[in-house]
Amino acid sequence: MAKERPLYVCQTCGASSPRWLGRCPACTAWNTLVETVAEPATSAPGKNRLSGAFAALTPSDQVRRLAEIEAEDIARTPTGQAELDRVLGGGIVAGGVVLIGGDPGIGKSTLLLQALDALERGATTSVADVSEATGLATLYVTGEESGAQVALRARRLGLAGSPVAVLAEIQLEKILTTLTERQPAVAVIDSIQTLYSDQLTSAPGSVAQVRECAAHLTRWAKTSGGAVVLVGHVTKDGQLAGPRVLEHMVDTVLYFEGDTHSSFRLIRAIKNRFGAAGEIGVFAMTERGLKGVSNPSAIFLTPHAQPVPGSCVLVTLEGTRPLLVEVQALVDAGGPSPRRLSVGLDRERLAMLLAVLHRHAGVACGDQDVFVNAVGGVRIGEPAADLAVLLAIHSSLRGKPLPKGLVAFGEVGLAGEVRPAPRGQERLKEAAKLGFAAALVPKANAPKRPLRDLEGLTLYPVERIEQALAAVRDMEAAG
Ligand code: TYD
Ligand code: MG
Repeated sequence: MAKERPLYVCQTCGASSPRWLGRCPACTAWNTLVETVAEPATSAPGKNRLSGAFAALTPSDQVRRLAEIEAEDIARTPTGQAELDRVLGGGIVAGGVVLIGGDPGIGKSTLLLQALDALERGATTSVADVSEATGLATLYVTGEESGAQVALRARRLGLAGSPVAVLAEIQLEKILTTLTERQPAVAVIDSIQTLYSDQLTSAPGSVAQVRECAAHLTRWAKTSGGAVVLVGHVTKDGQLAGPRVLEHMVDTVLYFEGDTHSSFRLIRAIKNRFGAAGEIGVFAMTERGLKGVSNPSAIFLTPHAQPVPGSCVLVTLEGTRPLLVEVQALVDAGGPSPRRLSVGLDRERLAMLLAVLHRHAGVACGDQDVFVNAVGGVRIGEPAADLAVLLAIHSSLRGKPLPKGLVAFGEVGLAGEVRPAPRGQERLKEAAKLGFAAALVPKANAPKRPLRDLEGLTLYPVERIEQALAAVRDMEAAG
């Protein structure tokens, strides 16, 4: 079979060139040209091996008014993992494509094997109709491990007798043929970076291969109605290896987060066409696989025997869930060029907050190293973390612990103002539920009337960063 003529397409502006160039002639961006297959204008049947399978693909030329099109509810199948279903928006959607990214060893293969097993056994429907549960046909395509290794993991998970079908294969065309033949309801591709299409000359894992393979698998999902879960690796800087276009192609993008040293794992929905983005699921890695943590709000708190300086409890919001996370700061005498380092929090924002602290509250850290850390490997992206970060820094600088049982949240602006955070009351309720005694919050987030849910929680509403620091001093003075 003759190879298709390669075409190099700029990932930034879309310009194409018949040969590879270091710099795109159209938009002058460097290293953006990527090999793709030039689609022949009219593909004769049999010429392209894949065209036969997708012959039924030609889109209908019937244009209808929106009003005439019936909106269909999406059918979802729960995966048997309530936390996974939560980020998926209720379960696996027929014809949907999910991309799961995460560091190596974080638990992607483990979770998906558990989910496939539950789907295949039909153990995922609610107890009431378990008699009718038949289970779905699934296929686990592994490109990274041999069948024996997958079996070993299954044994470890207590799924030794699992009915899940496993295919150890990395060639896209063979996988597509198998998919078309077996028509599984859910197929897992572990991982997309190991696949290659023989239509392309570039190596597996290259941008061109990843994109091409994902495109074909997506097309299979859309035409057959089977769901596809693609496992993707992330690079050192936390991006999915492969082009951004992968994220655009799929319906749902999930990221695994968490520290491989701790047992907790978060899955975050970055994008979801079938549910809410930003939603998180929380798991614990146990000796027998991942277990959902249904009430996770307190897992990121460190129990300190005595209050320690530089620690502040933040009430953050992950998706629709309030989570209490300990923010730690260490301010220490620095060298000639002091360092600012943050783990789990935005570093640019840290520099900005230090400037605000200096300018508006007169607290200087200019010659100090400043380190901040969100405990437990969570990544906090929301600006509502600002106030807790500043309080932790201030506490470390003074070498004085914050008052016991204090939580804080609120965005701090460049003018030193403390801005309200979304869903303040839910955050306060969670803090009260977990027995916290005081909350330093933006004034606009403090309820006008006392609420029964917030009993036992003393509120300290503030409008400016200076007020927040003064409130801490008042609390200390009051003992
Ligand atoms: P894995 O699912 O292979 O990660 P990924 O596919 O994301 O690379 O997870 C492997 C890690 O999880 C490994 O370090 C061992 C650990 N693990 C457990 O702690 N308990 C278990 O039951 C299993 C199967 C793995
Ligand atoms: Mg794996």
